[in-house]
Amino acid sequence: MAEIIIVEDEAQAGAIYARCVADLITAKPDAVLGLATGSSPLAAYRALAGIVKEEDIDVSHVRGFALDEYLGLPLTHPESYHATIHRTVVEPLGLDPANVHVPGDVLDGAPLADGERVAAAGPAYDAAIEAAGGIDVQILGIGADGHVGFNEPGSSLASGTRVKTLAERTRVDNARFFGGDLDQVPTHCITQGIGTILKARHLILLAFGAGKAEAIEETVEGGVSAFCPASALQLHPHATIIVDEAAASRLRHKDYYRYAYAHKPAWQGI
Ligand code: GLP
Repeated sequence: MAEIIIVEDEAQAGAIYARCVADLITAKPDAVLGLATGSSPLAAYRALAGIVKEEDIDVSHVRGFALDEYLGLPLTHPESYHATIHRTVVEPLGLDPANVHVPGDVLDGAPLADGERVAAAGPAYDAAIEAAGGIDVQILGIGADGHVGFNEPGSSLASGTRVKTLAERTRVDNARFFGGDLDQVPTHCITQGIGTILKARHLILLAFGAGKAEAIEETVEGGVSAFCPASALQLHPHATIIVDEAAASRLRHKDYYRYAYAHKPAWQGI
């Protein structure tokens, strides 16, 4: 089972992630970070940027691979995940942009119809992750329907990086980033597969708010099922799920998760 940590707020979750990753970078200066977009990781990135500055940690060799990208948006589009990752992670942390990769980078707005090129991008991305030695720590958010990256319900739990069709619910959820205009939200994406994500050595999933409670219940205490792609984390030997009270509200074994975390030996880390 994954480790479940119930925190007071996003800042506390962010501090736990940041300490873990800062220690990793100190031990391994060319660490490979798996990066995610969405609002859930923002406090974690802020906390990490704070520690990097305070402790003067050299991040010039840190490498990064993002989870996913919309299909058909040029890299310069402010809502492309390329632009978002650069705005929320690369710049605040002071990473070298040349070391940070997003799945759609080679496509730069190529349309879905550009079949050969679009289809080749996924396997090439997985090969690049492997050539980098694999991802050390992958940060994850979760969609209200249990998606991770853009692996919507029904995604193969063994999938590699590939093109997917976005669920209507995800498009509606994300329309707020496109001026509320659903027509502007791309219909397709390119995302690391569940199989790709499971290859990362440590997974840290963050979820906050009552809107995530059902997805967290399915993920942690439901069966492993493509119906809730995040439930694949149950198969990972080192997965940490950090949630606030609202996101944890439907968990049946909350007391045990709290007890286990409170009694954890300090040497174990997360
Ligand atoms: C998008 C991203 C996911 C993210 C999800 C939840 O669909 N592709 O990686 O986890 O949104 O976003 P938020 O953290 O804003 O709730």
